[in-house]
Amino acid sequence: MKLTTLPPLSLYLHFPWCIRKCPYCDFNSHAVKNSLPEAEYIDALIADLEHGLPLIWGRPVQTIFMGGGTPSLFSGEAIDRLLCAIRARVNLLPDAEITLEANPGTFEADKFAAYRAAGINRLSIGIQSFNDRHLAALGRAHNSSEARQAIEIARTHFDNFNLDLMYALPQQTLAEALADIDTAIAAGPTHISAYHLTLEANTAFAAAPPPLPDDDLSADMQEAIEQRLAAAGFEHYETSAFARPGRRTRHNLNYWRFGDYLGIGAGAHGKISLPDRIVRQARYRHPAEYLQQIRAGSAIQSEAVVPVEQLPFEFMLNALRLTEGFELALFQERIGLPLTAILPELTRAEQERLLGRDHLRAWPTEKGQRFLNTLLERFLP
Ligand SMILES: C[S@@+](CC[C@H](N)C(=O)[O-])C[C@H]1O[C@@H](n2cnc3c(N)ncnc32)[C@H](O)[C@@H]1O
Ligand code: SF4
Repeated sequence: MKLTTLPPLSLYLHFPWCIRKCPYCDFNSHAVKNSLPEAEYIDALIADLEHGLPLIWGRPVQTIFMGGGTPSLFSGEAIDRLLCAIRARVNLLPDAEITLEANPGTFEADKFAAYRAAGINRLSIGIQSFNDRHLAALGRAHNSSEARQAIEIARTHFDNFNLDLMYALPQQTLAEALADIDTAIAAGPTHISAYHLTLEANTAFAAAPPPLPDDDLSADMQEAIEQRLAAAGFEHYETSAFARPGRRTRHNLNYWRFGDYLGIGAGAHGKISLPDRIVRQARYRHPAEYLQQIRAGSAIQSEAVVPVEQLPFEFMLNALRLTEGFELALFQERIGLPLTAILPELTRAEQERLLGRDHLRAWPTEKGQRFLNTLLERFLP
């Protein structure tokens, strides 16, 4: 493979602590035990970034995403110190999208004002539901009035904010799922992510599953949610993502268009392209081990070149999540292989009506979106 241009570059920073661990969550997040090692962790992120610089030397950074875990457990001063350190070390574009994930109940107005002043220009608030019964069933640390309060505070400082919701919750009815969506729309976000609650391995919910809506009901919920959001002017552009016109998240779009990202922080993953190879990296997961490895010199637990035969599948895994699919030219631009390398697979998926294609683009059909895993299997090496 040979790349003639390198893709846009994003920066992901992971914050691995939460007030408590939610029973459905398999993300790298850990309940805060005593106090947060705030200063030490910010120092570690800065050192981690410095170690990563040779891989991305000179390339402009288009977007930053501070995810978790719960980044909003960190103070405004800590986020300001971090962003200043990033600006001093990489070429952060002046119009960069800089998102921070915030949980209701972990901040007050002063903290949001400080985040905004530090340069955060987009917030993503983990609401999940506005219904106290469902919030309790999900083991969330916040209630519905804290959810509403969080949005009120966010709105005064940020014109660009996302709300994360989940549906198909324990004992949820269709009307309750739609009430959550209606409340979210009325709050005026630029973006809504609506995730189907899934039972993930090694979570408390997987060990003792709660009573969940059956497949028919959750499919009805998904359809009704999509209709409500479309009627309210949101574009459904990815499996779970809905945006007001012009407000699609640039950070996630870069993932889905198989762009590059340097991932720093505990357990963060990265994907970096070089002219003749694509490298994936992972940092140590557990916060204590991560901090110790940083002190010892580097927190990279694994680094490997992606085998060339796996690249078409990896590209599709991302690009086919987008309802508009991808420009055919992007395939070769991102992975350095001609589209003819997967012509039989493309043709088969088209014949099965899973994929649509014209001379410019390929996209998942409605059937392809519904049976995305089947569509993706066609591109397995
Ligand atoms: C990892 S969380 C981080 C954001 C923040 N800590 C929070 O929970 O509000 C990102 C989002 O993933 C979604 N999520 C997490 N676990 C999920 C699951 N098992 N099924 C569906 N969505 C899930 C939730 O909507 C959550 O807001
Ligand atoms: S608050 Fe978010 S990241 Fe933390 S445990 Fe709950 S879902 Fe996971």
